[in-house]
Amino acid sequence: MSQQKTWSDRFESALNPAIAIFNASIGFDIELLEYDLTGSIAHAKMLGSTKIITDTEAQQLVSGLEQIRTEYRQGNFNPGVEAEDVHFAVEQRLIEIVGDVGKKLHTARSRNDQVGTDIRLYLRAEIRQIQQHLRRFQAALLSHSQNHVETLIPGYTHLQRAQPISLAHHLLAYFQMSQRDWERLNDVYQRTNISPLGCGALAGTTFPIDRQYTADLLGFDRVYENSLDGVSDRDFAIEFLCAASLIMVHLSRLSEEMILWASQEFSFITLKDTCATGSSIMPQKKNPDIPELVRGKTGRVFGHLQALLVIMKGLPLAYNKDLQEDKEGIFDGVKTVKACLEAMTILLEEGIEFKTTRLAEAVAEDFSNATDVADYLASKDVPFREAYNLVGKVVKTSLAAGKLLKDLTLDEWQQLHPAFESDIYEAIAPKQVVSARNSYGGTGFEQVHQAIARAKSIIDL
Ligand code: ARG
Repeated sequence: MSQQKTWSDRFESALNPAIAIFNASIGFDIELLEYDLTGSIAHAKMLGSTKIITDTEAQQLVSGLEQIRTEYRQGNFNPGVEAEDVHFAVEQRLIEIVGDVGKKLHTARSRNDQVGTDIRLYLRAEIRQIQQHLRRFQAALLSHSQNHVETLIPGYTHLQRAQPISLAHHLLAYFQMSQRDWERLNDVYQRTNISPLGCGALAGTTFPIDRQYTADLLGFDRVYENSLDGVSDRDFAIEFLCAASLIMVHLSRLSEEMILWASQEFSFITLKDTCATGSSIMPQKKNPDIPELVRGKTGRVFGHLQALLVIMKGLPLAYNKDLQEDKEGIFDGVKTVKACLEAMTILLEEGIEFKTTRLAEAVAEDFSNATDVADYLASKDVPFREAYNLVGKVVKTSLAAGKLLKDLTLDEWQQLHPAFESDIYEAIAPKQVVSARNSYGGTGFEQVHQAIARAKSIIDL
């Protein structure tokens, strides 16, 4: 174990041990290790190419850094709190490996532009991974949709039965939400993929560095234009947590529906044993723990977004140590979103089965075809508002008589309005009710087939 470092010779004594622990970020920023090495390798190469150090020195630095990567992957690099953070941990180990030349690595650089570089490299890689998770989630939604174009499910507003819809149409709504999530992440990626390396502590550097060189090596699209902004900007991380929060909103809404659907009251889906849990006391129970956990984990991602906004709001330019607090929320946000997307995907892929018989009963047992009666009259030139009021009355009398609309005799219909003819029965049958909503983006089967084709081409299946 190396000694707690004592900064420059300006300092005479080491940090108080409790303060050292309080100040350290190594406990969590070790997550950035590989990105820190990648960033440092690019920096070392740039120092060589600009002749700030010799080529031989640059090569020594690069091979020392690569050795740390190997050690880390083999589980042999485990810096403790005395290193303070991942950046110092790497520098100290590098000096142990390559000797005094290791002390040249930090020429023309500060931990401020270094940590900004690391977190961007980390986040852009994770954004791409989350996008892949989203694609798999979308594929699972699409596969159920393809099987259930003509499976009907009650559609709700205010959680009251409203109009029957295609089950595929319902699921494709989530497809669209996750498509926006995917696109939003592309957008965040653009503002994440900008290099702060070379901004130095805050003001740039006296050395003749080449910022474009490191940016190119690291695959950044461009460099920050202003060094103060470069080291203190965390907008991209806020944008990411915002995008992550919206993903969680969508997953949480789907979770809530699954929880409802699995209840005895709805009974629209069966939870399969591989994705459901039991109760420790009530042997009859099968619980939807997975969607409940997803719904529950949503709060922590919102919390990370809120925390980072609050961290940033009062910060004077440029770097302040408050920024060290950005990491845990970002890391946990990334992990939570990935885990939830994966769990929900598995749940869709193998954890649920739609109870089609029960669904067919559900759409036939209510008044959710009432709008269609009004539409029927309106299509026969009865003004819609008049038709609407009339059907309201029909629903009222039918309810009182314990009848559904389909149970009314033609005589009864015609007493209500002479425009009713025998085709009213066909017009209010659930399948017809759904298939007739053939407006663009509606639930009509033709529309749903087209929506599936569009969705398929989006995710390139
Ligand atoms: N561990 C620090 C962080 O995460 C690294 C940057 C430290 N810079 C400084 N000037 N103290 O933000």
